[in-house]
Amino acid sequence: MARAPKKKPVVEIKKTDLIIALDFPKGELALKVMKECAGLSVIWKVGSELFLAEGPKWVRDRVREGHRIFLDLKFYDIPNTVMKAALQAQDMGVEMFTLHLAGGPLMIRAVRDELEKRATARKGERRPLILGVSVLTSYDQPTWDDVSFAVGGKASKIPDSVKRLVAQARYWGVDGVVCSPHEIKIVQAADSILYTVVPGIRPKGSKAGDQARVMTPKQAATLGAGAVVVGRPITESKAPRAMVEKVLKELDTPIGMPVKEV
Ligand code: C5P
Repeated sequence: MARAPKKKPVVEIKKTDLIIALDFPKGELALKVMKECAGLSVIWKVGSELFLAEGPKWVRDRVREGHRIFLDLKFYDIPNTVMKAALQAQDMGVEMFTLHLAGGPLMIRAVRDELEKRATARKGERRPLILGVSVLTSYDQPTWDDVSFAVGGKASKIPDSVKRLVAQARYWGVDGVVCSPHEIKIVQAADSILYTVVPGIRPKGSKAGDQARVMTPKQAATLGAGAVVVGRPITESKAPRAMVEKVLKELDTPIGMPVKEV
């Protein structure tokens, strides 16, 4: 009997996404950078400042133009309130949004269930990815000692808190987490399936500014980052398009592959 030909294994090669933080007080400043980078494969991060300045219509217009939008408003409230906010984000057509993991399983599950229900009702429309924020990277250990003690009666080390929150994250309903480049390994050890979105990234030669412990896009990609977030090195650059092209070239490596430094 003739043997069926061996099927070639399907190897999915994933690359690290580039997210650009549009931390601007006015839409027109953001639009200038977006126009200069037309046609490049990036995701635009809209945070509280720009969103409060321009509102949901601005976001909807960008989605209609074909831009991929990450709405970074870090929701944290009672389950019903966050679920309703998340549905608004879904209706805007954003690709991903953030909430705090500290909101817990009831809040996150409510969001996930309703997003899925709405996506199914719309015949397979893709729902936005839910990204969880664990411990904000602006915390230093002494401040986190105070907060974790106040909440739990016992001071906790930041990496331990991150590890414990992230280990629950997917069961609670998130698709990915926001973490510092130095936490990628901790997240992967806790749950290797989570999509990691990593700020604190500086291309070689750019200023760290207020980011304390930075990595280059290539270093973060090599560690397996799902996406890197770069803001000011691009948005304050005299040649944003050239900077984006440079970063995209650095990221042109399958996720987690060893990279030879040149
Ligand atoms: O300009 P820069 O590259 O530092 O911007 C990083 C972006 O990522 C900012 O929008 C900042 O608010 C966001 N972010 C961060 N660290 C976190 C979470 C979000 O820098 N832990």
